[in-house]
Amino acid sequence: MLVTSSVHYIGCDDAELDLFEGQYALPEGMCYNSYLLEASAIAVMDSVDARKTDEWMQHLETALQGRQPSYLVLQHMEPDHSGSVKTFLSKYPQTTIVCSAKAQGMLLQFGIQAQNVQTVKEGDTLDLGGLTLRFFMAPMVHWPEVMMTYCTERKILFSADAFGKFGVYEADADDWACEARRYYFNICGKYGTPVTMALKKTAALDIDYICPLHGPVLEGEKMAEALRLYTIWSAYDVETKGVLIACASIHGNTLAAANRLADMLRERGVGKVALADLCRDDMAETIEDAFRMDRMVVMASSYDATVFPPMHQFLWKLQQKAYQKRTVGIVENGSWAPSAGREMKAMLETMKDITLLEPMVTIKSALNEESLAQLQQLADAIANA
Ligand SMILES: Cc1cc2nc3c(=O)[nH]c(=O)nc-3n(C[C@H](O)[C@H](O)[C@H](O)COP(=O)(O)O)c2cc1C
Ligand SMILES: [Fe+2]
Ligand SMILES: [Fe+2]
Repeated sequence: MLVTSSVHYIGCDDAELDLFEGQYALPEGMCYNSYLLEASAIAVMDSVDARKTDEWMQHLETALQGRQPSYLVLQHMEPDHSGSVKTFLSKYPQTTIVCSAKAQGMLLQFGIQAQNVQTVKEGDTLDLGGLTLRFFMAPMVHWPEVMMTYCTERKILFSADAFGKFGVYEADADDWACEARRYYFNICGKYGTPVTMALKKTAALDIDYICPLHGPVLEGEKMAEALRLYTIWSAYDVETKGVLIACASIHGNTLAAANRLADMLRERGVGKVALADLCRDDMAETIEDAFRMDRMVVMASSYDATVFPPMHQFLWKLQQKAYQKRTVGIVENGSWAPSAGREMKAMLETMKDITLLEPMVTIKSALNEESLAQLQQLADAIANA
């Protein structure tokens, strides 16, 4: 596949992988992108996961048409991209690896012995004879060694993991945002500031195409929309006005109350209302919704003088991903000494710029007149927040 003149897509789909990075469900599979730039000298942009080495080597050979690759640019050393470098070098040992100094330090860790390594730093260029590559360091746009690459003549930004998504390669996917958002908040969410810094650096560039390491090449309106969303996401701003109700219920009474609250919120017209059952629904999807919307209600059963573990895990993940700048309500349930509320509050208080709503609702086993009235009050507070 040709991205544009002299730029070939040589990545691979992985439809069989069950979990990305050992934890994210892949209902639509995954792709590892790689590109080949054809000029007087040939440069390959990143390799693919070791699961797809053979297929990638074939794509590479087809695109090379008997020529030798002069450069292999490694923008990111994570194994989903560096996993085929060893095989590549055994076939093309003369190729010069081009990477950041930090990435160079990681080569041996991953068992990669390269004869020729050229480290590049911010603003360095590589002349391929007809095409020029310019490098931008993007530390912590997932890992510390990450860099992005701009091809001046073709106006392409090779963006590493930024602008990636879950799913096999689908050039004309209508809903890029859904799986790109789940990918962003779960994988890069913690690194909003580095992503913002990388976006600032690349904002000055004239970009016709974004070529990420996962997901489709972006251009035109889709690229503009992706840039708009990345600006919101990396700043932890609100994308959609609405409320996520995240619920962890042992026997179902808290979940029943969550459904009641969802109805109350819909009646009050608070925007989008999403209800997640933390025991069953995809956790990564729920994390994504938490960041997407401006308000959240956490509802959980008490458990061994603390909070039911699925809620603990959810809040712990939000802490890890730097959840911030949101308004949150709390509903606890307990049969003898409710403890979930205290625990959820303590975890939320460690996060930045979280506004906690009153009242914190306590349910004693199942909703009664008193707790229902509290829930109505909380619904009012959410609607007015
Ligand atoms: C393993 C376990 C531990 C529990 N620990 C507590 C507790 O420490 N304090 C409390 O008040 N209730 C505790 N409970 C009771 C539940 O929190 C309570 O029955 C609650 O109403 C369950 O709501 P649910 O129907 O939404 O699961 C515990 C229940 C289980 C199964
Ligand atoms: Fe990565
Ligand atoms: Fe990746």
